[in-house]
Amino acid sequence: TDPAFIRNFCIIAHIDHGKSTLADRMLQITGVVSDRDMRAQYLDRMDIERERGITIKSQAVRMPWSLNGETFALNMIDTPGHVDFTYEVSRSLAACEGAILLVDAAQGIEAQTLANLYLALENDLEIIPVLNKIDLPAADPDKYAKELASLIGGKPEDVLRVSGKTGMGVEELLDRVVGRIPNPVGDPDAPTRAMIFDSVYDTYRGVVTYVRMIDGQLSPRERIQMMSTRAVHDLLEIGVSSPEPTPTKGLGVGEVGYLITGVKDVRQSKVGDTVTTAVKPATDALPGYTDPKPMVFSGLYPIDGSDYPILRDALDKLKLSDASLNYEPETSVALGFGFRVGFLGLLHLEIVTERLQREFDLDLIATAPSVTYEVKTEDKQVVTVTNPSEFPSGKILEVSEPMVKVGILAPKDYVGTIMELCQSRRGALLGMEYLGEDRVELRYTMPLGEIVFDFFDHLKSRTQGYASLDYEPSGQQAADLVKVDILLQGDQVDAFSAIVHREKAYAYGVLMTERLKKLIPRQQFEVPIQAAIGARIIARESVRAMRKDVLAKCYGGDITRKRKLLEKQKEGKKRMKMVGKVEVPQEAFIAALSGD
Ligand code: GTP
Repeated sequence: TDPAFIRNFCIIAHIDHGKSTLADRMLQITGVVSDRDMRAQYLDRMDIERERGITIKSQAVRMPWSLNGETFALNMIDTPGHVDFTYEVSRSLAACEGAILLVDAAQGIEAQTLANLYLALENDLEIIPVLNKIDLPAADPDKYAKELASLIGGKPEDVLRVSGKTGMGVEELLDRVVGRIPNPVGDPDAPTRAMIFDSVYDTYRGVVTYVRMIDGQLSPRERIQMMSTRAVHDLLEIGVSSPEPTPTKGLGVGEVGYLITGVKDVRQSKVGDTVTTAVKPATDALPGYTDPKPMVFSGLYPIDGSDYPILRDALDKLKLSDASLNYEPETSVALGFGFRVGFLGLLHLEIVTERLQREFDLDLIATAPSVTYEVKTEDKQVVTVTNPSEFPSGKILEVSEPMVKVGILAPKDYVGTIMELCQSRRGALLGMEYLGEDRVELRYTMPLGEIVFDFFDHLKSRTQGYASLDYEPSGQQAADLVKVDILLQGDQVDAFSAIVHREKAYAYGVLMTERLKKLIPRQQFEVPIQAAIGARIIARESVRAMRKDVLAKCYGGDITRKRKLLEKQKEGKKRMKMVGKVEVPQEAFIAALSGD
């Protein structure tokens, strides 16, 4: 296709503002999906995505659209909508010349959308502002058109009004995509360069790599090279999705399509990497490629220890389709054998644990999420700690923690309560701006460690669900952090160690000792439960010794009752863990960790 007749765009929207519905309607109106084949939410493939209504993996669809007698090829590139996937979003945006900014006409813009809009503006994309769901009685398009216009410039009248549900305004939107978004430009005679904006594992076909052609061309049967690793692969198939994968004779400048090489692991085909040809390789890779780093770590343990091999195989399998998943084996006194797993963020953690439980039928316990601390010890060594129980002992010169820049959008009435929350989480206010008349954007820097722990839940409950949140990494910063250990009769319970700010150490110690006191059954002897920083005890509770044996209260009378009690005890025994001399049912650890 002549690049003059190509338009590459994506849709930037908040979860639930109707991106999938609008995309479906576009597929239908352009005729690439017949009404009969129309499956709801065609683009969302995974079950979890559909159930939770979130889009994790992006893909691309080609649709024809005619304007003034000319036919154009529109490539719609789907972008993930959540905060953990900023890097993937940035690569999807880099594959486009324009973006539809889609906002629910009853809700207005949200923090994540704003963050992605800024990313799109940084990438010089042409923005088409659109209000969706105008069929809703609660829609207030006049108000939000003003908000959008003041945000990106332009007149409120230029903000399109559509309904993905009824199809109203969608044809006009497609016309505008053709009219406003610039066509791609590139050098057809230069060495081939194509950017990978997505890489999806398919059980039958192996890895499917989605690319946007920048220069040159790719043809079937060519040998391609990945510029980051120099690895060479044979191209088995090349094509476009429309929306089913359709092989083509090749891809030229500006086109969007997929490649299949028989590679079995998405790590060999990384998002952001540049594809070139082995015969005439390009010298410079396209800018913007990085290896996404895990930000949040958690120990994952099977509740039934014999499930460990299943967990290992499950992680190996998930890794094929998730290049950002990292793990290594770990053992814990309290929880047995498991893995320390690195995630891009909290949602990523949630998705992975949910997939493990659902697709592999595993019962898992996850330790409290931790971030990456850098600890400088006396001998000037810097140790990276992602598991609090591995915090170095001895004299520490400095501890630093990852920081994030946080953006919060909320109605102005909640500003006070949000500021209070952010301050209690060691946030430093960077700025505050009004968006329209009654909504405010607050910007903070905050330790990531303060966010991974129920920050979002608190934010939502303090604002009746009206606040939305976005964050991006912002380097490491030194802080007065200490490790708090929890001891049972003097023995450390590794899964409960936590790295916290010195001012919060006492509160953590009290919380955990009180929680464990309620959960640990009485033993033959008194069991002290302590919280300590190094050798210094900061909180203490104890479980008193058992006075009589369990059978005493049966008065020796009812024999069946006695037997039942003994059997129950035996059953309980199997799941007991020994911490020093203390027997603790595994359920107690699990309950203490999950805070129930
Ligand atoms: P993610 O896939 O989670 O990003 O969500 P989404 O933005 O794709 O939203 P989706 O299309 O799933 O729509 C969210 C909800 O809004 C669904 O219940 C839709 O039926 C509804 N919805 C979408 N578009 C419209 C619209 O134009 N009018 C009305 N009334 N409802 C709509």
